[in-house]
Amino acid sequence: MKRVFSGIQPTGEPHLGNYLGAFRQWVEGQDQKENFFCIVDLHSLTAPYDPEGLRERTRKLAAVLFAVGISPEKSTLFIQSHVSAHAEACWLLNCITPIGWLQKMTQFKEKFTKQESVGMGLLDYPVLMACDILLYDADEVPVGDDQKQHVELARNIAGRFNHLYGDFFVPPEPVIPKIAARVMGLDDPATKMSKSAASIRGHAIGVLDDPKEIERSFKRAKTDLFNEIRFSDDQERAGVNNLLSIYQAITGKGREEVEADFANARGYGDLKMGVAEIVIEALRPIREESDKYLNDPVALDTMLAKGAEQAREVAMPKLREMQEKMGLLVGM
Ligand code: AMP
Ligand code: TRP
Repeated sequence: MKRVFSGIQPTGEPHLGNYLGAFRQWVEGQDQKENFFCIVDLHSLTAPYDPEGLRERTRKLAAVLFAVGISPEKSTLFIQSHVSAHAEACWLLNCITPIGWLQKMTQFKEKFTKQESVGMGLLDYPVLMACDILLYDADEVPVGDDQKQHVELARNIAGRFNHLYGDFFVPPEPVIPKIAARVMGLDDPATKMSKSAASIRGHAIGVLDDPKEIERSFKRAKTDLFNEIRFSDDQERAGVNNLLSIYQAITGKGREEVEADFANARGYGDLKMGVAEIVIEALRPIREESDKYLNDPVALDTMLAKGAEQAREVAMPKLREMQEKMGLLVGM
């Protein structure tokens, strides 16, 4: 059976882009594959944050993931810092990863110029991500297209390890969802919807937003002056294209069908309300289910402890073998 690994940072609020670009694919693949899903709290230490908020967001994200349908019976969902093998393996792979590979990473270069002070962790981010993936011998890594480069780096690091110490790591493949791979911000359709955008209001739709908020955000969504509801690659029409793509991703309809649904729309107002409605209905059950988990933190923590235990059963022996291959005196 193919093994799948994916991760998400507990930063900001989980949003529609995460849901369409990541969570939904994770849930859909649960029956055919063996899955590991990880809330990567160690990765989120690489950007400024407040400790209490991090704890809260970690639980909230776990609740959302169980609520969207990640099933503890079918998948292993755990918190990265609960499995110490990730940080330990990171040191080992640090020692074989050329700095030049890391300095070339697009995300590093972008964040490097934006952050006032840059910790080592930011440069090292993709090595830790490689450990996440490689410790589980994952064949497939479902991610949005912005993370493709990091998965390819993990593949290169695996290749380098295998070359130096003998065949050991499985080279992972990134798996990019076909529709809505990139949900754009409602306020600025030239940038991807993201959790870290300074003001999430009007930019992103939070998975836990209430219907009124969702409606408000869509009403304010940026469009254009063409007054034509159709898919388009034209940058000037990116706002309308984004709204249609969201609608398409949720309904699963083809492009023509989507355009036909809006053939009688009187303008962009109708388009926005049509998309808002379908998003509200898609998110409603998730919000209700998340509340159940958030109101019972003991049960939630128990589920996460069980996930960590299952993850350790795979990661720890792999780490030991890795140490052995690298010449460390193991098992004392
Ligand atoms: P992040 O929110 O950046 O930690 O990403 C978590 C997961 O959601 C990754 O698989 C991302 O590629 C995916 N993702 C994040 N933002 C978007 C977006 N705007 N559209 C589609 N997928 C996204
Ligand atoms: N860097 C990923 C992101 O921001 C999160 C991540 C960490 C991840 N480790 C991973 C994704 C392992 C897939 C596999 O989206």
